[in-house]
Amino acid sequence: MNTNDAIEFFNELDDNEQLNNHVRPGARKEKHPLRNPKKVPLSVQKFVQAQDDSKGSFKFTYKAARFEEWWLLDSLGGFYEHKWITDVLRRVKGGKEASVYQCRSGVEVDAPLVAAKVYRPRSLRNLKNDQQYRVGRVDLGEDGNALVKSGDVHAIAKRSSYGEGLRHQSWIAYEFKTLELLYEAGVDVPKPYAMEKNAILMGFVGGIDTSAPALSTVALELDEAKSLYDRVVRNIDLMLTHNRIHGDLSAYNILYWEGDITLIDFPQVVLPESNPASWNIFLRDMTRICQYFSSQGVDCDGRKLATELWLSHGHKVVKEVDPRYLDAEKPEDRQVWEEQK
Ligand SMILES: Nc1ncnc2c1ncn2[C@@H]1O[C@H](COP(=O)(O)OP(=O)(O)O)[C@@H](O)[C@H]1O
Ligand SMILES: [Mg+2]
Repeated sequence: MNTNDAIEFFNELDDNEQLNNHVRPGARKEKHPLRNPKKVPLSVQKFVQAQDDSKGSFKFTYKAARFEEWWLLDSLGGFYEHKWITDVLRRVKGGKEASVYQCRSGVEVDAPLVAAKVYRPRSLRNLKNDQQYRVGRVDLGEDGNALVKSGDVHAIAKRSSYGEGLRHQSWIAYEFKTLELLYEAGVDVPKPYAMEKNAILMGFVGGIDTSAPALSTVALELDEAKSLYDRVVRNIDLMLTHNRIHGDLSAYNILYWEGDITLIDFPQVVLPESNPASWNIFLRDMTRICQYFSSQGVDCDGRKLATELWLSHGHKVVKEVDPRYLDAEKPEDRQVWEEQK
């Protein structure tokens, strides 16, 4: 892949965020001129693997930005082929790590809409912070099972190009396997349907025209704030019962729709007993949660809550949040830092 082309493509994705956030009526199944492979730069053709016949019939309503269409055909073609989706309707959110698309479900799905989270190619993903979460996690392969071949394990440790591909895959597999585990356990997460090498498919939270907003953007009445706070705490408690810490929990990763909440965004999930930084990470999650609910008038103390939950699951409280785990660009993290000083 020509990195410059791909970077340009993803910059375009960011620039077109506003433009592409709406379904354009009448845009359905138009032939896109860029579908003609002769016009696609060679670098992009290499970037997207050859489509087989069934994937080749995959066309969608969503008017994709320049190179985005190939990226989607490549990432979502398998879901189409296996009848998980029939159409891509719109992009819900583009991000540095992944973009989320609203799709119309295929016959394999028991709901009208699904959300496809499509990861950026690993070379354009921001991997700077993933090391802390990977500690104590076995790496998972494309099928969601632990990688056992010593060659694979070695390649990841060596950070060879092949190893980096496996590492990227493992990151995605963790998100999917965590959704499976937690959904089964009754945690409020989207229902997981399928995983491909670069994307996961899950229940869509929201309606046909609007996706659910993040809780961080919602102002709640006090009664509702209190009951949602209890609900979030019950979810976190249940996650600890199943030996999982979200790892990036805040009101930004909780969706709010018709009075219900849904926890999302799990690739960095942490296993409490295996990661020496797990208390730090858990405390940070709880602090961020309490920052939001305090702003909504709920009386809560992140440290107290974290300590109670943590001890009740038989874990030991170790030390303060290590500054390495705080992001200087996030105001909520700066607050944690200030409180600790
Ligand atoms: N299942 C879903 N249903 C509806 N919208 C979703 C769903 N999952 C994610 N989103 C939207 O996509 C955004 C990014 O998803 P997220 O998993 O948090 O990825 P990121 O790593 O980019 O933060 C969310 O803030 C939300 O707006
Ligand atoms: Mg997120």
